[in-house]
Amino acid sequence: MPQLILGIESSCDETAAAVLSVEEDRMQLLSSIVSSQIDLHARYGGVVPEIASRAHLSKCIPVVDEALEKAGVSGDSIDAIAVTKGPGLIGALLVGLQVAKSLAYVWDCDLIGVNHLDGHLKAVFLEEGPPPAFPFIALLVSGGHTSLYRVNSFSDIVMLGATRDDAAGEAFDKAAKMLGLPYPGGIQIDRLAQSGDCQAFSFPRAMLKKGLDFSFSGLKTACRNTLESLGHIPEGQELSDFCASYQEAIVDVLWQKTKRALQQENIQELVVAGGVAANSRLRAAFQEWSDELGVRLHLPSRKFCTDNAAMIAVAGYFQLKQGERSDLELNAQSRMPIPLFNP
Ligand code: KG4
Ligand code: ZN
Repeated sequence: MPQLILGIESSCDETAAAVLSVEEDRMQLLSSIVSSQIDLHARYGGVVPEIASRAHLSKCIPVVDEALEKAGVSGDSIDAIAVTKGPGLIGALLVGLQVAKSLAYVWDCDLIGVNHLDGHLKAVFLEEGPPPAFPFIALLVSGGHTSLYRVNSFSDIVMLGATRDDAAGEAFDKAAKMLGLPYPGGIQIDRLAQSGDCQAFSFPRAMLKKGLDFSFSGLKTACRNTLESLGHIPEGQELSDFCASYQEAIVDVLWQKTKRALQQENIQELVVAGGVAANSRLRAAFQEWSDELGVRLHLPSRKFCTDNAAMIAVAGYFQLKQGERSDLELNAQSRMPIPLFNP
């Protein structure tokens, strides 16, 4: 009998639920519903935590219902519920957690709390084709995190480097805000950059010679300075050129550090995950550069890079397989330690 896992994600501005069927490690995603709150937050230029919590409250049950319906399964056939316990907005997390705990109690099924970042890292296991082989290097690039890991096994993950200030996603979002582009900015810059010249503007590449840590705050300052010296907000082709140049600086630094990690650890297997891994230039460039280096690149498909509940169900499955369970005392954590261990 396949095991049915319901995933629930509510750490930020997406309310998501998914049903995953697993039989002897063969995964089949039966449904994945993501209800985005973008429209609610856009006028504020970023996520407003209280608005996010309230939206999760009204959306969570309908989204779970939709996921069950699309999967063609009933609630009482669910074997386990995997829910994001952190890191994220505390009020937002609590909504998903409360729904998960209530349903686990009513359906009398297992409950497992999942680290959101762990979910991002495991999203790649939803893809068809050979999964990444251990050990692999993982680059996690999201709105709040930018880190490099050596993943020896699911229970042995070593952090090799991390950002000392802004995350790569923040670097995209903050520049987009300065350019007057709507929230969330990463996807806007991605879109505009496609018709731009990435050499038109020069942006710094920070800490290239130093270790495996990142720093993106200087890039944000360089963006502001460049706009000030231009004296206007670029439009048309100039805007595309600006976006392409800025994006290239981020992708370039991400690759230089990732390449150093691969070489330092003598590993030819690479996973890139998190919202920024949905970036078109990053995907194309990392594929090209990985091929040149003889490295096998594993990228989740775009819809599994940005926040979703399918990745939470997968991460939950691996934890359950190792015998881990949560009880109804499970609580939300706005910050969670990195590296990510599944004991
Ligand atoms: O993983 P994610 O959905 O949420 C967090 O856990 O943070 O990542 C969101 C981040 C945002 O900063 C967003 O602008 C960025 O990922 N992002 C992108 C793209 N799609 C999402 N950045 C660049 N290009 C994209 N296509
Ligand atoms: Zn995320």
